[in-house]
Amino acid sequence: MHIRILGSAAGGGFPQWNCNCRNCRGLREGTLRATARSQSSIALSDDGENWILCNASPDIRAQIEAFPALQPARAVRDTAIRALILLDSQIDHTTGLLSLREGCPHEVWCSEMVHQDLTSGFPLFRMLGHWNGGLRWKPIELDRPFVIDACPALRFTPIPLRSAAPPYSPHRNDPHPGDNLGLLVEDSRTGGVLFYAPGLGQVDAPLLNWWMRRADCLLVDGTLWRDDEMIHAGCGSKLGSEMGHLPQSGAGGMLEVLDGLRGRKVLIHINNTNPILDEDSPERAELTARGVEVAWDGMSIEL
Ligand code: MLT
Ligand code: MN
Ligand code: ZN
Repeated sequence: MHIRILGSAAGGGFPQWNCNCRNCRGLREGTLRATARSQSSIALSDDGENWILCNASPDIRAQIEAFPALQPARAVRDTAIRALILLDSQIDHTTGLLSLREGCPHEVWCSEMVHQDLTSGFPLFRMLGHWNGGLRWKPIELDRPFVIDACPALRFTPIPLRSAAPPYSPHRNDPHPGDNLGLLVEDSRTGGVLFYAPGLGQVDAPLLNWWMRRADCLLVDGTLWRDDEMIHAGCGSKLGSEMGHLPQSGAGGMLEVLDGLRGRKVLIHINNTNPILDEDSPERAELTARGVEVAWDGMSIEL
């Protein structure tokens, strides 16, 4: 399985256009050892030619330009993106579909809940219906594995995760299974197993023992170092836990969760306030000491 990190930042990216936090300012001024990151998305392939996008970032245009394997090569108008999977209906994971309109129709796999949001509060399916067949919805049924024709060696198991639907969702204050998914991806030829969950608010025993333990690589929520990080940085009023993100530090945090697991550990969907973006920070040193990597745009992983 070929895994390409197209974007490794949370919503807003790094630096964020209107943010003057220590990290964003330090990156702009060149006083911080850190790398810019675009908003979260990965591409998966079983053969290196046909690719499936997991989430469609607002930065998709630049992400395609940075990764030749996705670019047109066989016809005047062409793409190697054969299908998309949406893990939630958040802006940072879906808005890229608007930029793919010239290549409609697209095959889009998502849950009933995400499809509801994207036909009501954020009606991408309805809007793009005006472009050559638009988005062809392939429903993801919870806990039922599926295979996508374009990459027949990959088997996807959707795992419902506890989280909140976005502000424009009709069921914003009434969480449903399928609002937010994790994915277990198994390659039937190599045996490689990926666990991917860019938004992971809670890890219970079944999730940990049944799914996460099986993975050769865990690509998981690295949004915040501490739960009150946004408030502490003066960047917002919400806790990570209120946004469905488990912080890395502290008792029961992501680092503790990952400690007992055998797979390669990589944090993704990193918010621009997170001190781990500063490569000289003690927090980054702690990750290194615990064997945890920080995803970067352009990173490739083979399983
Ligand atoms: C989140 O996952 O909480 C987001 O990154 C929010 C956003 O895109 O605004
Ligand atoms: Mn996000
Ligand atoms: Zn910032």
